[in-house]
Amino acid sequence: MSVKKVQDSETILTELMIPSYANFGGKVHGGILLSLMDKVAYVTAAKHSSGYVVTVSVEGVEFLSPIEVGDLVSLKARINYVGKSSMIVGIRVEALNPKTGIIRHTNSCYFTMVAKDEHGNPTEVPGLHVSDEESLRRFAEGKALKNLAKQKNQLLKEEFHQMSIDEILATVAGERLYFNHHEK
Ligand SMILES: CC(C)(COP(=O)(O)OP(=O)(O)OC[C@H]1O[C@@H](n2cnc3c(N)ncnc32)[C@H](O)[C@@H]1OP(=O)(O)O)[C@@H](O)C(=O)NCCC(=O)NCCS
Repeated sequence: MSVKKVQDSETILTELMIPSYANFGGKVHGGILLSLMDKVAYVTAAKHSSGYVVTVSVEGVEFLSPIEVGDLVSLKARINYVGKSSMIVGIRVEALNPKTGIIRHTNSCYFTMVAKDEHGNPTEVPGLHVSDEESLRRFAEGKALKNLAKQKNQLLKEEFHQMSIDEILATVAGERLYFNHHEK
């Protein structure tokens, strides 16, 4: 089985936040950051798999600390976990204010990427060679994340669709929902 080291695909993408990236409040659009995250995840997964990859899911994206125009944003990406055809890329986003030198960790998130062959089918990727405890922990977290994502999808796509209206209402009792079955 082919195996690659974490370091073989680690990627850092740094970009200046220019005025056209700003929203009406003067902060950087979330969509700009998502696009940069997708780009760095693609590069990292393509390096590990040596081929074409697609984005399948995104976990943990939160915009809790706004990024300013003029900041230098760095996205540090690495492979945390590999399955058969899937890879979980961990991304740490940091914003540097070049005037003050202050670096803020604004977000960490996880992109699941799947390698595809020339026919568009999922294809096996190399195993992951890790040699430190931190990488081992990240791999185990990645496996747990994959299992949680499966459970979440099952809950959302299957269980709610099989419930009666009364069963669904019981799950949202006490919420600020005003449901009138007969009103259109
Ligand atoms: C994701 C996709 C490859 C799954 O294809 P599939 O024929 O169902 O293949 P499989 O069931 O064998 O899954 C392939 C891998 O994807 C993973 N996967 C599938 N759905 C997933 C999900 N919702 N979240 C995370 N991983 C998922 C599987 O766990 C599997 O990983 P493994 O090989 O490491 O075990 C397919 O749905 C696809 O191509 N989607 C479009 C992706 C795309 O175009 N993205 C660009 C954004 S528009």
